Amino acid sequence: MERQITKLLLTLISIISINLIVAEALPNANATFYNPVVDYYSPDPYVTKYNGSYWLVLSDNDVLTVHNSSKLYDYRNATTSVAYQVGPGFDRGSVWAPEIHNIKGDWYIYFAMSGNGSSHRMYVIKAENSSNPLGKWSSPVRMYLDAVNDAWAIDATVLQYGNGKNYLIWSAWPREDPVYPSNGSIYIAELETPFKIKGERILLREPHEAWEAGDVDGVKIALVNEGPQVLQHDNRTFVFFSANGAWLPDYCLGMMGIDNLKDPLVPSNWWNKIDGPVFWRNDEQSVYTTGHCSLTTSPDDTETWLVYHATDRILPPGELQTIRKTRAQKISWDSNGNPVFPRPVGLSTPIPVPSGQKL
Ligand SMILES: *[C@@H]1O[C@H](CO)[C@@H](O)[C@H](O)[C@H]1NC(C)=O
Ligand SMILES: *[C@@H]1O[C@H](CO)[C@@H](O)[C@H](O)[C@H]1NC(C)=O
Ligand SMILES: *[C@@H]1O[C@H](CO)[C@@H](O)[C@H](O)[C@H]1NC(C)=O
Ligand SMILES: *[C@@H]1O[C@H](CO)[C@@H](O)[C@H](O)[C@H]1NC(C)=O
Ligand SMILES: *[C@@H]1O[C@H](CO)[C@@H](O)[C@H](O)[C@H]1NC(C)=O
Ligand SMILES: *[C@@H]1O[C@H](CO)[C@@H](O)[C@H](O)[C@H]1NC(C)=O
Ligand SMILES: *[C@@H]1O[C@H](CO)[C@@H](O)[C@H](O)[C@H]1NC(C)=O
Ligand SMILES: *[C@@H]1O[C@H](CO)[C@@H](O)[C@H](O)[C@H]1NC(C)=O
Repeated sequence: MERQITKLLLTLISIISINLIVAEALPNANATFYNPVVDYYSPDPYVTKYNGSYWLVLSDNDVLTVHNSSKLYDYRNATTSVAYQVGPGFDRGSVWAPEIHNIKGDWYIYFAMSGNGSSHRMYVIKAENSSNPLGKWSSPVRMYLDAVNDAWAIDATVLQYGNGKNYLIWSAWPREDPVYPSNGSIYIAELETPFKIKGERILLREPHEAWEAGDVDGVKIALVNEGPQVLQHDNRTFVFFSANGAWLPDYCLGMMGIDNLKDPLVPSNWWNKIDGPVFWRNDEQSVYTTGHCSLTTSPDDTETWLVYHATDRILPPGELQTIRKTRAQKISWDSNGNPVFPRPVGLSTPIPVPSGQKL
C-alpha cells in the first residue's frame, strides 16, 4: 500500500514537472517582466537581434562586453565575453557607448575612447570569427571622422540603407574645445568601408531648443545631441537621438527622420521634430535620465522594442550617471506610420514580455 502510494506520488510529481518544463518552454501570452534587464551599471545599451537571439553590448568604462541571451528582456543568464579592454596608450574609464553591427556577414563593434593625447574619438574592432561575436576581436582601428578639425567624436551608429549604401551617424563637436561638456551635434558620412568614411562629415542636426540644453542649478552649460539610433519602418527611416545632459534627470530622446529613401547626405531631405522630446523622465514612477536607446524587435518580429538606460532616483551630477541601468519597453505604431512612444515605467510596473518570447 505504502509502496503504491509512493509510486503514485512519484508518477504525479513527474507529470507535474513535465508540465512545468512544457509550460516554461512555450510562449505565454500573459507573462510579464520588470525592468531593469540587468542588475548592474549598464549605460548606453545597444541590442541587436541576430539568428534568433539578442546580442547586448555594454561598457563599464574600461571593458567592453558582449552578451548573448535568448530573452530580449533579461541578460542575467546571458553568455558573456570580453571583446575589448582598454589598452596601452588609451585612458582608463574612457570606453563609451559600444554598438555591435553585422555588416555583410562580419561583426563590428563601434565605440568611443580617449587616449594618445586626444579626447574621445571613434574606434572600431572586428570579430575574428564572423559566426562568433563571443570570440576574439581585432585591435581597435581609429576612425578619422573630421579631416578639418579632428574634433571630438562619439556614439557612432551604422545606417544600412535601402539604396545599398552604408552610412555612419554620430555625435561630434563643430571644433575641438578644451571645455567639457561642449555642444554636441549629429553628423553623417557615407562609409567607404566599415573602418573609413568617404568624403567629409555633414552636419545633420544642431541642438537649439531649451529641452536639449543640460543645465546645472538653472545655468545652461551645453546643448547636447548624441547617441543617434536608426529605426527603419516601411519606407521611413527614423533617427532617435539623446538630448540634454547624460548627467542630468532630464536626459531624453528626440526624433528626426527621412522618408522614401531620399539621399541621407542632403540635410534638407531630413525632417526634424523640434517641439519636444518623444521619451522623457516620469516623476510619477521615479524614472529619470531616460536616454541613449537602441531598437530591436520581438522574437516573432511583430513588435518594436526600445532598449534604453534610466535611473530610479535623482542624484547630483557626477553621481547620477553612475546608477544608469538598461531597461526595455515596447514602442507602438500609429496608422500614419509614426512611432508611438510609451511613458517610461518604474521598477515595480509589470511589462508584458515581447511577442513570441519563449520563457
Ligand atoms: C491569459 O489571461 C487570460 C485572461 O485572464 C486567460 O483567459 C488566459 O487563459 C491566460 N492565458 C495563459 C496562457 O495563461
Ligand atoms: C547565442 O544564444 C543562443 C540562444 O541562447 C544560442 O542558440 C546560440 O548558439 C548562441 N550563439 C553563440 C555564437 O554562442
Ligand atoms: C539563471 O540560471 C540559474 C541556473 O543556471 C538559475 O538558478 C537562475 O534562476 C537563472 N536566473 C534567471 C534570472 O533566469
Ligand atoms: C595609440 O597608442 C598606441 C600605443 O602606443 C598605439 O598602438 C596606437 O596605434 C595609437 N593609436 C593612434 C590612433 O595613434
Ligand atoms: C545560427 O544559430 C545556429 C544555432 O545556434 C548555429 O548553428 C548557426 O551557426 C548560427 N548561424 C550564424 C550565421 O551565426
Ligand atoms: C566560428 O564560430 C562558430 C560558432 O561558435 C564555430 O562553430 C566555428 O568552429 C568557429 N570557426 C573557427 C574557424 O574557429
Ligand atoms: C553652444 O551653443 C550655444 C547656443 O547656440 C552658444 O551660445 C555657445 O557659444 C555654444 N558653445 C560652444 C562651445 O560652441
Ligand atoms: C518606397 O519608396 C520607393 C522609392 O521611393 C518606392 O519605389 C516605393 O513604392 C515605396 N514603397 C512604399 C510602400 O511606399
